[in-house]
Amino acid sequence: MKKQRLDKIIASQTSLSRKEVASLIKKGELLVDGVVVLSSDEKADPEKSEIIFCGNKLGYSEFIYIMMNKPKGVVSASSDKRAKTVVDLVPDEIRRDGLFPAGRLDKDTTGFLLLTDDGEFAHKILSPKNHIFKTYIASLEKPISEEEKTTLEKGITLADGTALKECEIKILDGTKTKIEIKIREGKFHQIKRMLHFVNNEVLELERICMGNLSIDPSLKPGECRLISEDEKKLISNFDE
Ligand code: URA
Repeated sequence: MKKQRLDKIIASQTSLSRKEVASLIKKGELLVDGVVVLSSDEKADPEKSEIIFCGNKLGYSEFIYIMMNKPKGVVSASSDKRAKTVVDLVPDEIRRDGLFPAGRLDKDTTGFLLLTDDGEFAHKILSPKNHIFKTYIASLEKPISEEEKTTLEKGITLADGTALKECEIKILDGTKTKIEIKIREGKFHQIKRMLHFVNNEVLELERICMGNLSIDPSLKPGECRLISEDEKKLISNFDE
């Protein structure tokens, strides 16, 4: 990896700004390969050098991948003037500049949201071309019939001309008001609009899976944790 300025490296791995990092460096809080460095201008290769900042070893990773159990009432955005966002919920220990949600869940939808600073990966997992299924559990206002299920599974065109690809639906209960639905697109209010198309309404919606990676059941609403390299492969099955 190319050498980079030390303030840039540290800011990219923490929630501190470059200015805050520079001021701590001046105070003697940085050791690179055992030597105190007092100038932010100096450069290092973060993959080769041992960097200790404020007494902690910097575990460098170019990008970060976070699994969040999104609660109701927060918006899937990086910032918002009025409402609380999913990025606001990420704890300082893992927060970084440049984090964004890879795909949106509605304000009232809960469950698996992936946050990252890796734009290329986000694009790959969201592109319908890559066939990455997102699985949801939906509670419905009325029972869904076999015929309505088949209509939706084959793909539909909404009244405004939006074409929605085929999907998979499983009815989960005897009252036929709870379904598992797998889609590989992420169009605006997609599942709600699909059910509306067959004269039904979604009362509750939760995303439980992205690709083959299920949400960690130990995460309470609003909590998040890092995704490991192996788990990341479960989301996407394309070569990187
Ligand atoms: N479909 C919706 O209608 N809402 C979501 O949040 C996700 C999928």
